[in-house]
This record gives sequence, C-alpha cells and structure tokens, in this order.
Amino acid sequence: MKRMEIQPEAVELAKKFTVSDPQLGFGKYMAPIMVQSWYKEGVWSTPKLMPYAMISLDPCAKVLHYAQEIFEGMKAYRHPMGDINLFRPELNARRFNFSARRMAMPEFPEEMFIESVATLSAYSHQIVPKRLGESLYIRPFMIATEKGLGIKPAKEFLFCAVASPSGNYFVNPNVRVYIERDEVRAATGGIGAAKAGGNYAASLSSYARTLHEDCDQTLWLDSKDRKYVEEMSGMNFFAVVKGELITPPISDSILDGITRRSLIELARSKGLTVKEERINIDYLLEHIKKNECTEAFICGTASVLVPVASFKLKSGEIFNVSEPNGKISIALKEELTQIQGGRLDAPQGWLYKVPKIDF
Ligand SMILES: Cc1ncc(COP(=O)(O)O)c(C=O)c1O
Repeated sequence: MKRMEIQPEAVELAKKFTVSDPQLGFGKYMAPIMVQSWYKEGVWSTPKLMPYAMISLDPCAKVLHYAQEIFEGMKAYRHPMGDINLFRPELNARRFNFSARRMAMPEFPEEMFIESVATLSAYSHQIVPKRLGESLYIRPFMIATEKGLGIKPAKEFLFCAVASPSGNYFVNPNVRVYIERDEVRAATGGIGAAKAGGNYAASLSSYARTLHEDCDQTLWLDSKDRKYVEEMSGMNFFAVVKGELITPPISDSILDGITRRSLIELARSKGLTVKEERINIDYLLEHIKKNECTEAFICGTASVLVPVASFKLKSGEIFNVSEPNGKISIALKEELTQIQGGRLDAPQGWLYKVPKIDF
C-alpha cells in the first residue's frame, strides 16, 4: 500500500469490528473504515484510510444542488484458501473515469483507485463473508464539494470509498418486470452511460409505480421511439430467443456493465451465440407468447444474475416467461458465481488478489 496514508485509529476499529448476523442483506452493515482523498487546486491528496464518519459539507456544495456526483459498485470475495480477491477492478476504475469525464469532474488515477479499494478490502478482511455468493460490496464515489450556486463545474471534489459485507441483493430469486412506457431513464446524448446519481434519481418515481403494479424491477425503453429495450434502473438485460442470447448494444444511454461483459465472454466461450442487437419490446413479448423467448434475465454486480419471471404492461397484461430458471440462465449464473468465489478457474486477468495485511 505504497501511496496510502493509514490512520492507526482506523486500524484499531477494523481489528475490533465483527458482524455476527447471518442475514447480511445488502448495505445493512458498513465497515467501520473508509478511504478519502480531496481534490484541490488540480491535485488529489494522498488517499487516507480513516474511521467511517459523517462528511461535513457546505450547504452550498455543488453536489447538493447540481448533482455533480458519480459512483461505482464492486465486490471483494473471500476464496476457499482465505485470500481476498477483487473482480475486474480495472474496469471499475476505467468506468469511474469515463463517468468523471462526462460529468465534468477530474479523473481519479486508475492505480490510486485500485489501491484505495484494495486497501479498504485488505483492512476489512475479517468481515469479508465466507459463503459462496456473499462478498464485501465496495462503493467508491466522488462528489463536488466546492461551495457556490453558479451552474458551472466545481473545482473541488471528494473521493470516498466505503464497504459493506453483503449477501443476496434480491430475496426473491425471480423478478417481475414492469415495462415503463411513459417515463425515460436516459436520453441519447444524456448521462445514461455514466454511473451518475442523477440517473438513479430519474428512475425512482417509476420504481414506486413498479411496486404499485406488484412488480420488482423497471424495464426502460429508448427515449426516442419508446420501443427498444435499454436496461433496468441498476442492471443490464438479456433474453434467450430461439436458443440464442440477445442483449441491447451499449450506447450513450446504457451503462456498460461489467457483469454483462463478463457473461457475454463466458457465454461465447461455451459456444453460445450472443447477439448485441436492439430488442423491440413488441418482438420480445410476441416471442414470449409464442414460447420462442424461453428465458430472460437481468445482471449486475450487486445481484450477479437474476431470472425474469414475467413482464407487465401498463394495460395490466402480463407475459410469463416459460423457463425463468432455464438452463442458460442457471449455467451462466453458476459459472460466474463460482469464478468470483474462487471455486472455478477464472479467465486470465479477471481476479485481483488483495495483499494480506497482518494486524
Ligand atoms: C444502470 C445500471 N446498469 C447496469 C448495471 C450493471 O453494471 P455492473 O455489472 O458493472 O455492476 C448497473 C450497476 O452497476 C447499473 O447501475
């Protein structure tokens, strides 16, 4: 951990902290430590491992008014021999800086990002869960801290990373999807491909409607024609049509998911056909009706892969997927979970071993 400052108080807190609840949930418990680095006059300060604490902000900090904020979501896994591994962290580092550029924020050097996250994981090693499918969820984020009500990019920022030992994101193993045809999550030319808080804020009123419709997740369509499947509010989308996998191509309104990318690579290595093509929602529903679309699933870091049981339209019409726990979904989920959990060999470069710290 060459470029990090480690506060002794943080080490003491980390040593003592335990979580005994077997129901970890998602984001219910936070590690007692965090990493912070401040950006001032064009320079990032040395990232510091410190006790988890409140952040004090000026009431006119730009993040509070103009939502200049980005984040990442990634995981550290405990492997059977006890070592802790991050999954493809360089892709998170790269995407963080893609988001930063789109939101007129300074890049956070990739090595510093990975070192910050690895240090947080290393000092949290005793709370990285053991069971397959559980992990330490890590949330790096950046906010504009500069004071001012003028609408212009800030010049001062805070990078911070916190961590939470986590279990399953979804309690229900199959999700019911509500097709959103009125509102739009992200438009062409907008910020949909950035992992910016504003995109999630834009999804919340529809999420309330989704729950009211007795569904679990919102499926967003393209902003122009309201016809083509984009993604969920926090996950990418796949369908299995006539035995082939199909997923919308990445665009400036869809997040380039690391789970999506990994599943495509795994599926292709198994000899499956994966098409990255636009999916007309009417085509999809028609093929579900004809039983030619037999499986559909959503995927992301938090939940890995979750089969879709049904799709619901505003009219109330429901389309049930014939094999929500179908062969392809289950095989891909198992394989990725086992790779992440160190039970199966990972493709070259997918795992980053966190250095072991002896307290
Ligand atoms: C909007 C959105 N799409 C897709 C994903 C899946 O991305 P990843 O697999 O990198 O977690 C996420 C989660 O990060 C997301 O927030």
